[in-house]
Parts: sequence; structure tokens; C-alpha cells
Amino acid sequence: ASKSVKLNTGAEMPTLGLGTWKSQPGAVEKAVAHALKNGYRHIDTATAYANEKEVGLGIKESGVPREQIFLTTKLDNKDQRDVEGALERSLKALDTPYLDLWLMHWPCPMTSEGKADKSRDWLDTWKDMERVFKAHPEKVKAIGVSNFSVPYLKRLLENASVVPAVNQVESHPACMQEDIVEECKKHGIVVTAYSPLGSDDSPLLTNPTVQKIAKKHGVEPANILISLQANRPNVTVIPKSVTPARINQNAKVVDLTEEDLKELASIEKETHIRVCKPYWTGWGNIGFPDLE
Ligand code: A2P
Repeated sequence: ASKSVKLNTGAEMPTLGLGTWKSQPGAVEKAVAHALKNGYRHIDTATAYANEKEVGLGIKESGVPREQIFLTTKLDNKDQRDVEGALERSLKALDTPYLDLWLMHWPCPMTSEGKADKSRDWLDTWKDMERVFKAHPEKVKAIGVSNFSVPYLKRLLENASVVPAVNQVESHPACMQEDIVEECKKHGIVVTAYSPLGSDDSPLLTNPTVQKIAKKHGVEPANILISLQANRPNVTVIPKSVTPARINQNAKVVDLTEEDLKELASIEKETHIRVCKPYWTGWGNIGFPDLE
């Protein structure tokens, strides 16, 4: 598995990053500092996670220079009508002069009360992100999307002047998203796999196929789930942990065989899992075939 992938901007994105969804403010600062002190160079957060300030503190605490770190955050659904303001707020919270990557968190504009904002088109939000990216390349090194299904990607690509650098989607053996990975590859878009372990209390860690392959390679099941993504061409992966020993352990990526990859990818035929439900946003299934 490669240690980094090249974005369509020319920048390198480390294949392995630390995820921070559900990482509480107190714990995340220590987790980020620990990860960076132990070799991680890619941190993923979002305004919606309500931990940007502590992620920024963790970066400072690590002593690792900012320019050696690949930092991603995401435009909140509630900020789709205030793209420029949202960027400034994220930069301030993270206490950083720039983002390596800024993603539209969902193609799902929401009101400040947290309801679907049906009079806002996410495509206009993308156009605002393009404008900010072109006007302030020193503040945003790359823009991209998250939770975009194939039909949504197609609509974006038909109308965009900037091809997204990344599409970040849920992916693990019980939700491979092969159609999205294929579509993104066609257009030179990198995919970042979130919830690669299946999130909290994941049945994937005790899945017999995963355990069998882990035993064969002499690693833990989590390493196989992370390696599955890291072994896919054009894919990066952001396992979340606030536990120092796990953060270290998760950095071990192994080379899987074609046979391993095939076996892991077939798990979704028996077990389908969705950790993150698009209907939370009030926008329905947003084009994901497995949810229709
Ligand atoms: P914790 O953060 O308490 O260490 P995902 O990346 O798929 O969202 O999964 C995150 C979940 O998996 C969290 O509950 C996290 O717990 C747990 N986790 C992270 N790394 C490991 C590991 N190596 N072994 C078991 N569970 C893990």
C-alpha cells in the first residue's frame, strides 16, 4: 500500500490519517498530539464535530510543524449559505493560516434550526467554494466533497469549474462503495474512507473472515480493515481513535493479497452496514443505491 496519494492539485495526501468524528474535545487534543508524535501526518476533522479548536491545540502540542501536516476540515450543512464566513471560522478555530483540504460535508444544506433547507441548492454552495478557493489559494489548498453518491458526483462534474480533489465517504467491508471508487478514479478524484472499522461496537472486528485474514498476517482485525482501504488504488483512510495504544496500532498497514481483498469485499453480500445515515439531514437517501 502506498504511503501517500497525489491529488489533482499536485499535492500529496498521506494514505493514513486520524479520524476525529465523535472524538470529544478533551480527548481529541491528546489523541491528535499523540498521533502526530507517533508518525501520523494527516488529521481529519469537521465543523460539525465541534472539536476544531481542540484539534488545533493538539497540533500545537505535538510540536510537529504545520507544513508537515495534512489537515482537512468540512463545511457544515448549516453554513452552506455562508461559505466564506465558515472558512474564516474554521481557520480561526483550528488556529491555522490554511487548510490542506476543505470538503462540503454533505450535499444537504440545512437551516440554523437543523432542518433541510430546500430552497438552497448544494451546487451553488460548490460554486461558492470554488470562488473562495480561487480567490484565496493561500487559505485553501484543495477543495472537495463528502457523502457524494454517483448521481450527485455526475451532476457536480457536469457543472463544476474545479474538479473536487477528494470525495470522502463511509467505507468498510460491509459497505465497499465500489461504484463511487470507480467513478472517482475515472475523474482523478481521491476517495477517503471514513468509519473504516465500522465505527463504535463494530461487528466487523469479530467477523470470521476479517479475523482469519488478521491471523494469517499476524496483525489485529483493525489493521486488516484499515489495510483493505489503504490497498485500494486512489483511496486514503481515516480510522478514528482516542486511545493511544490503538492510534499506534492502527498505523500498521499490511500488503493484502488479491485473494484477501476479494474475500473482504464479498462480506457486504451477507452483511450490509451503514454507520452514517444520509436521512439524518432531512434530504432522504441522496442517490445511494444501497439505501433506495
Ligand atoms: P476509541 O476511539 O475509543 O479507541 P471508525 O474509525 O470506523 O469510526 O471506528 C472508530 C471506533 O473504533 C471507535 O469506537 C474506536 O474506539 C474504535 N477503535 C479504533 N481503533 C481500534 C482498534 N485498533 N481496535 C478496536 N477498536 C478500535
